[in-house]
Amino acid sequence: MLSRRKTLKALGVGSLVSALPLLTFAQSPTQDSVVANSLKIPAVLDGDSIANIRQFQLSLQSGSSSFFPGVQTETMGINGSYLGPTMRFRRGEQVALQVHNQLSESSTLHWHGFHLPPSADGGPHQPISAGQTWNTGFEVVQFAGTYWYHSHMLHTSGEQVYRGVAGLILIDDDEQQAELPSDYGVDDIPLVVQDRRFNDDGSLAYMNRYEDMVMGMHGDIVLVNGTHNAFFEAETRRLRLRILNGSNARTYLFAFDDDREFNQIASDGGLLEQPVEMNSLELAPAERAEIIVELAPADQLKLVSLGLSNSFPEFVGAMSEMMRELNTQRFDILQINSGQDLRENAQVPEQLNSIYRLPEAAATNTREFLLSMGAGMRSGEDRGPGRGMRNGNGGGYGGGHYSINGRMMNMNYINERIELNTTEIWEIRNNSPMMHPFHVHNGQFQLLDRNGVQPPANEMGWKDTVRVDSGEVVRIIMRFTDFSDEENAYMYHCHILEHEDRGMMGQFLVV
Ligand code: C2O
Ligand code: CU
Ligand code: CU
Repeated sequence: MLSRRKTLKALGVGSLVSALPLLTFAQSPTQDSVVANSLKIPAVLDGDSIANIRQFQLSLQSGSSSFFPGVQTETMGINGSYLGPTMRFRRGEQVALQVHNQLSESSTLHWHGFHLPPSADGGPHQPISAGQTWNTGFEVVQFAGTYWYHSHMLHTSGEQVYRGVAGLILIDDDEQQAELPSDYGVDDIPLVVQDRRFNDDGSLAYMNRYEDMVMGMHGDIVLVNGTHNAFFEAETRRLRLRILNGSNARTYLFAFDDDREFNQIASDGGLLEQPVEMNSLELAPAERAEIIVELAPADQLKLVSLGLSNSFPEFVGAMSEMMRELNTQRFDILQINSGQDLRENAQVPEQLNSIYRLPEAAATNTREFLLSMGAGMRSGEDRGPGRGMRNGNGGGYGGGHYSINGRMMNMNYINERIELNTTEIWEIRNNSPMMHPFHVHNGQFQLLDRNGVQPPANEMGWKDTVRVDSGEVVRIIMRFTDFSDEENAYMYHCHILEHEDRGMMGQFLVV
């Protein structure tokens, strides 16, 4: 088992190196010394305000991107060949989005983290066929913060996002009190962090290993905003990094290579009450964090991802070995160099926000959600590694059995009905051997506790995705307001996209 994977890994790396003419064979392409590339900053799409509605035109397209010198990779993007522009919305305004699908397959665009009518959500119920255009819109009621958009196509979200169908949305709010670095691309830096794996010919490898089926798609190369081996030249004393874990399945433990402290100032749904000082930050797929790091003149530091801890449950032998191998990898994410003369910019404020805490007593209902990985993984293993994918259940998405409350996603089955204008507690329990990031559509929630214990300060702000570790019970509290709809459902799911695509998703109506 181990030796087989080691061999595969060696083959993968070796063949990629040979596809890169500028590399010497002794070096792995993940080594930072190889080629350093200036961090790409996604273009801003501000939209055009017509009759008080801000209009955005988005076009899903396929294209070709160069991540390594001399190598072209077929990719997908929005208004470009890989990823999409950073859209900027203002809190309180009305936006109209026109999404034109120029791909040769159906897709959707989902506005992750937004409170909006379910028909505008862009989930699996709003597919856009190849060549078609979807017109939608909503009022931006969210707090200022870092959000994102991505494909939510049934069974193919994972592959489409992997190829590039994702982008950032920043919400600005004039009323926001805290003064923060906010010069986009200068001291306010978006970082879309994604791991990818490449084939010999430079194409993206997707789901061609047994462990991809079980643990979701992990890569051995990290791209930041589509940049491999990225560096950034800083001109200011402080940088605000808006980090999106835009990976399909990998969780990162972000830190700086000199272990310096930094402040987290925002979570998924906007600013925290106070900055939280830390020297490492764990982010699962779809989670966002804004951090502020202080620089000294002529500083050289690296944002890295430390491997996650080694203590994986032993009860599924082969799987914990896989988890150990995938999760404990360390990556360089971004090299930051600062000049001799750094400009002063906004300090980290002591108070950032004041957050109304949803009182537990306001909840009128508690629902339980059990995250499970069924026998698929085990029987796949018994039949020999690598066969799970081919032995799928006919829909091309088989192999494992991923469920919530014992059910796999069924488009024709409404899992939950929730009464409009109520507050609920959702108790999410994970009885599988690995962590699942649980995401709920329809807006932002708050964490009540993890295994009965109050979560750390950086999880006490607004969230839309929460890590639920193996064996853990996480309680969240959420309001269901404004949009009642008998027809159109919202989704909840694991944000490991390969789990979502294979059934770890359900739907609820607010009525
Ligand atoms: Cu980010 Cu249901 O998705
Ligand atoms: Cu979402
Ligand atoms: Cu999962």
